[in-house]
Amino acid sequence: MTRSLGVCYYPEHWPEAQWPEDAARMVASGLTWVRIGEFAWSRLEPEPGKLQFDWLDRAIDVLGGAGLKVVLGTPTATPPRWMLDRHPDMLAVDALGNPRKFGSRRHYCFSHPGYLAECKRIVTLLAERYGAHPNVAAWQTDNEYGCHDTILSYSDAARAAFRDWLAQTYQSPDALNRAWGNVFWSMDYASFDQIDLPNLTVTEPNPAHVMAFRRFSSDQVVAFNRAQVDILRRHTRAPIAHNYMGRTTEFDHYAVGADLDIASWDSYPIGFLSDRLEASDAHKAAFLRQGDPDFQAFHHDLYRAVGRGRWWVMEQQPGPVNWAPYNPAPLPGMVRLWTWEAFAHGAEAVLYFRWRQAPFGQEQMHAGLLRPDSAPAPGLAEATAVARELADAPCTQSAPADVALVFDYASAWAWDTQPQGADFDYFRLCFAWYRALRRLGLNIDILPPDTADLSGRKLVLAPGLFTLPDVLRAALPSCPGTVVLGPRTNSRRPDFSIPPDLGPSLPGLDIRVARAESLPPGCRVPLANGGHFVHWAEELEGSAEVALARADGRAAMVHAGGLHYLGGWPEDDTLVALLRDLCHAQGVATLDLPPALRTRSDGESRFWFNHGAVPLDWDGQVLPPASVTRVPSV
Ligand code: GAL
Repeated sequence: MTRSLGVCYYPEHWPEAQWPEDAARMVASGLTWVRIGEFAWSRLEPEPGKLQFDWLDRAIDVLGGAGLKVVLGTPTATPPRWMLDRHPDMLAVDALGNPRKFGSRRHYCFSHPGYLAECKRIVTLLAERYGAHPNVAAWQTDNEYGCHDTILSYSDAARAAFRDWLAQTYQSPDALNRAWGNVFWSMDYASFDQIDLPNLTVTEPNPAHVMAFRRFSSDQVVAFNRAQVDILRRHTRAPIAHNYMGRTTEFDHYAVGADLDIASWDSYPIGFLSDRLEASDAHKAAFLRQGDPDFQAFHHDLYRAVGRGRWWVMEQQPGPVNWAPYNPAPLPGMVRLWTWEAFAHGAEAVLYFRWRQAPFGQEQMHAGLLRPDSAPAPGLAEATAVARELADAPCTQSAPADVALVFDYASAWAWDTQPQGADFDYFRLCFAWYRALRRLGLNIDILPPDTADLSGRKLVLAPGLFTLPDVLRAALPSCPGTVVLGPRTNSRRPDFSIPPDLGPSLPGLDIRVARAESLPPGCRVPLANGGHFVHWAEELEGSAEVALARADGRAAMVHAGGLHYLGGWPEDDTLVALLRDLCHAQGVATLDLPPALRTRSDGESRFWFNHGAVPLDWDGQVLPPASVTRVPSV
């Protein structure tokens, strides 16, 4: 597989006379891909039905003529102002009932039939015109579903669509009442038309109602995306991608990804460290100009699963961004490190966001590869260096990992709905487990919850799975190694009720969760091995063999052969020790990496990433700060 670089470009932002020089500079910098068009609707159709595609024809010709491959975006994330005159009720509505007004982007409700029809119309026009264009080598649908908290909409259109969805799902109000337990607080319904969206209730709504709304909202994204993909496929053979975000769990990315050829995501390591990660002040200070050493890798591995092997970074941070509370500049070397890290995890392409910093609009302070005056910004030299390195030493391999972590979007919705403890967040839980594996120097594959085959795995981890899907349950015996489930895994039925046997209901493992407690910061449950549970601890009941005990003698982890259930959230060091032991028992070698050092092997090369601001001595080599070192795999 070839790996390549690219950039996001907005020809409509710049005078046409500038395009040829921009294109030539992109090529001279070693870039292959240029993504365009995803916000251009008002310039493609300034008035309803008045189409102006000629400038886009010329832009694609100029870029393609220079040797670049174009990724063409559908412009549906930015409906123009006139759209509101045609469809005044197309706006998304927030949980407080406020419309999300025009004046930025993503102001549409996924459930609005009129807006969906407009999207199909513009996508059809674009697909007809450019579907067979030799320079359009890939497509992107919309832009970042879910960014700016835009999946859940409490609009009239959403309510009508939700009622239809409920009627199809449950068939009768009685069945819904039974499934949701609506006898509780006299919440029974006599018809689907009585059911509202689960916002603005006096106190918390029925979690089954919320869960149904979350599933419905995710399905609306899948349907919206599929409508575009179906049109594009009729006109193009080029691969179709969507650009997902970091720590966005409001829709099922696997389900959207199933309709696409390539998963891609937008990687802003420094912005993400400051605005969406639980971490100590010391950690945030240590990685202020580098980003968290595991956050990007987690998403690389996640989106490799979403893309069934094919994935890109569609937007790579090239310098300071504008949208986090504070926006430090990357250390010299980090743009190169981030790019190589993506390739080491199997990315086919990395595109920087954006070519030239815009001197107008919301993102004036967001760096590009060029400054607003067209002089090179510091990121450009690093991108060019990677292009040269790639040409000299292509990176072609991708190896399956012995160790896998299951990640499930429905579980994120479930524990968001009823966390039971303020610190119980599903992403946080899975990320803690991922980080522990990274500290041990392991390659990790992330698996969807309906994985049917575990036969190549030595260690499979599934913490916090809301329900255990039948497919995964059936696959458990196929794992020749160790499986660890829990905490909270399979503790609910799909409609958000406690199973009759209390869960986790695992084959051959006589164990029940008799009681669970959530723990505030600073409160720890000691374990017999000197470690601790934090955030969450369960009292396990049953005859299964104890693999690890709590200090009070209760079971902390039980097992039957390779199948383990863990009844708590281990503190970070406790988790590392536990996973190290489980790995060694399976013959999986581990390392003990310092906080700034991470590694990945693609089967051919081993990459060492020093995310730190100071040099690191490791295994006889000195790894410079903010650097990647590539050596042959042993
Ligand atoms: C992304 C988005 C881009 C741009 C970028 C700025 O979330 O897709 O359009 O806004 O952030 O960092």
